[in-house]
Amino acid sequence: MKKVILTLSFALLTILSFAQTPAYKNVKLSDEARIADLISRMTVEEKVGQLNQVNGGVLTGPSVANHLGAQGKVQLLKDGMVGSFLNVVGTEQTLATQKMAVEQTRLGIPLLFAFDVIHGYKTVFPIPLAEGASWDLVAAERATEIAAKEASSAGLHWTFAPMMDVSREPRWGRVMEGSGEDPYLQARFAEARVKGFQGNLDENHVLATVKHFAAYGAAEAGREYNTVDMSRYALYNYYLPPYKAAVEAGAATVMNSFNIYDGVPSSASDFLVNKVLRGQWGFDGMVVSDWASFGEMIAHGYSKDAEEAAIQSIMAGSDMDMESGVMRTTMVKSVKDGKVPMAVLDTAVKRVLKLKFQLGLFDNPYKYHDAAKEKATLLAPEHLAEARKSAANTMTLLKNDKGVLPLSNPQNILVLGHLAESQDDVLDFWKGQGEHKNTVTILEGVKLKYPNSEITFISAVNREGAFDPASAKEIKKAAKKADVILATIGLFGDLAGEARSLSNLSPSDGQMEMLANAKASGKPVVVLVQAGRPMVMTEVVKNYNTILYTWIGGTQHGNGVADVLSGDVNPSAKTVMSFPVSVGQIPVYYNHYNTGRPHEDGNEGPAHFWVSRYRDIPNEPLFPFGYGLSYSTYDYSDLSLSKSVINQNESVTVSVKIKNTSDVDGVEIVQMYIRDVVSQPLRPVKELKDFARVLIKAGETKTVTFELPATKLSFFDQNGDVLLQKGAFKIFVGTNSRDVLEVDLELN
Ligand code: NOJ
Repeated sequence: MKKVILTLSFALLTILSFAQTPAYKNVKLSDEARIADLISRMTVEEKVGQLNQVNGGVLTGPSVANHLGAQGKVQLLKDGMVGSFLNVVGTEQTLATQKMAVEQTRLGIPLLFAFDVIHGYKTVFPIPLAEGASWDLVAAERATEIAAKEASSAGLHWTFAPMMDVSREPRWGRVMEGSGEDPYLQARFAEARVKGFQGNLDENHVLATVKHFAAYGAAEAGREYNTVDMSRYALYNYYLPPYKAAVEAGAATVMNSFNIYDGVPSSASDFLVNKVLRGQWGFDGMVVSDWASFGEMIAHGYSKDAEEAAIQSIMAGSDMDMESGVMRTTMVKSVKDGKVPMAVLDTAVKRVLKLKFQLGLFDNPYKYHDAAKEKATLLAPEHLAEARKSAANTMTLLKNDKGVLPLSNPQNILVLGHLAESQDDVLDFWKGQGEHKNTVTILEGVKLKYPNSEITFISAVNREGAFDPASAKEIKKAAKKADVILATIGLFGDLAGEARSLSNLSPSDGQMEMLANAKASGKPVVVLVQAGRPMVMTEVVKNYNTILYTWIGGTQHGNGVADVLSGDVNPSAKTVMSFPVSVGQIPVYYNHYNTGRPHEDGNEGPAHFWVSRYRDIPNEPLFPFGYGLSYSTYDYSDLSLSKSVINQNESVTVSVKIKNTSDVDGVEIVQMYIRDVVSQPLRPVKELKDFARVLIKAGETKTVTFELPATKLSFFDQNGDVLLQKGAFKIFVGTNSRDVLEVDLELN
């Protein structure tokens, strides 16, 4: 009898407590029903709290809310005034913080933890610009998958990547974060990276952020945080396609950019956010500001105060305020005063809550915070192996005139330059949680690769690039014994990233002096360039025969370099930004318009005077988009089309024969471009439309084909509508954007 009573009362208790469980905690209900229930329980303050993202760790922007102090931020959190933290990392920190949100706030709404996982979390991969040069979408997806796995094991839900800003501006320190100057290629990387980061959005993945929306890569003169001013036609055709591709690939969030467009800061741009992103592309996810970009509208002169800035942002369709605090300090009043309709606030809050439900945080708020998993995941051997492959894949051979590379069996190697031994400089500003001590430098990589060689290292130049005159003698002496000299030049790692614009892109005088000393020895000199952007290589190219651009390769940089130097990996990368002849030539890019007075370099004389050209430098860049050599050589021939006339709903097969004329197997990146010969509005001289990474064995001839549907001949008009125009096209296929074969196609 006693037992029956006990059982009955237990059942009753269960029923009662179930009845008391709020609907938003009921796993059996749909996310929509749970969100609606939760919203109905939230105060205006709690709603606004969800739109507030606070920095909880290392600053990745100016200190805006630091006056709050750690205690102030904890208080905000307990008051339900924080929806998300950025820069709080590691299971220990994130778990402790999440516990406060779940257990010490009125509604127990879990937090989202965000961090800039740009090219790796602990295992750092090559910078995205270098990864772009591999043209390897599969590798990019794998790299982001690993980055997501490591980041999520460390308590993170959300990365502020991929950055999809097309850019023609090597002065801009952030070109390292994207995949260069071409919208088509950048769009393919967008898809790969979104897929890699997000996967199926389980606890081994992270939410992706498409940034910086929009056109931040076009900041004037490459100066960080500067103005963008361009036509809508250029915006739709050159700058928007990668963001669009990322949105179509399912990216969960989008970040506003710092810049203005058409006189309006992006964060408050009804055109960009409401019309293009949400309207034309149907994005109904969450839009987060860039660091303090809502509040910075006051400095722009667009908002008179914080209240107006917050209203303008939310009314334009932006949702979450990263760090500026204008939402937190003014939005409650604006809603209560009726300046912002409750429905607008609710819509923004729903977007934030939806992500939290999607990740399952309401049901299992601590599933990202497993310290044992974190330990086992970070720097896992398979991650390092993949990072090494990636690094080797990104090494871009710019010159190998005397065939000095590969170095099969050097007995004595002289390594020069501070960068060769500096663990600090194979990582950049956006290194995630990568640690210098875990990196492999060029010197180490070379030592590991050639364990039986005698290797001498002379720093010769310091981190800033100044030459130590005392080293001239040392170089002379050491060079006598050396079979080859590996000389590293470039920029120190931390010069790649945000707030790192530069006006001078040449190697330092000291580095040039070091190279001259090396050359004077008469021994073969291999110039290894380490930088997160294209540098001005004109003098180096003039004077040196062997140049390998190593970019910033991350944790496994040195091993990647050594794999290519030795020929264990045959280089295949091709740059995705044009290399300028001088800073004065910037912006220089392959997909430019022809102008009414086009000029071809090399044509001199009176007939070539009144044309679009410089009097002192060529028009063409030093190295064009898509350029890079290999230890293999290739011969392209027989470019042909399956038909020379197609209709708008047809496609044509483009084929080309490529012979590997060398005795080494190689991967060739075959590029297909088009030109719309006569068009209104007019089109660029070339546009990339497809590419393939093709393994061609030594001596083998392969036929490579591309399917080119007529739709790929289309473009956008000033309103973002697709235009497909009949008429003449040229189809080009080649080894880079300059050296191509061409054939005619007619669209009917
Ligand atoms: C500002 C940068 O522009 C953005 O890319 C980054 O995600 C945020 N700071 C957060 O660190």
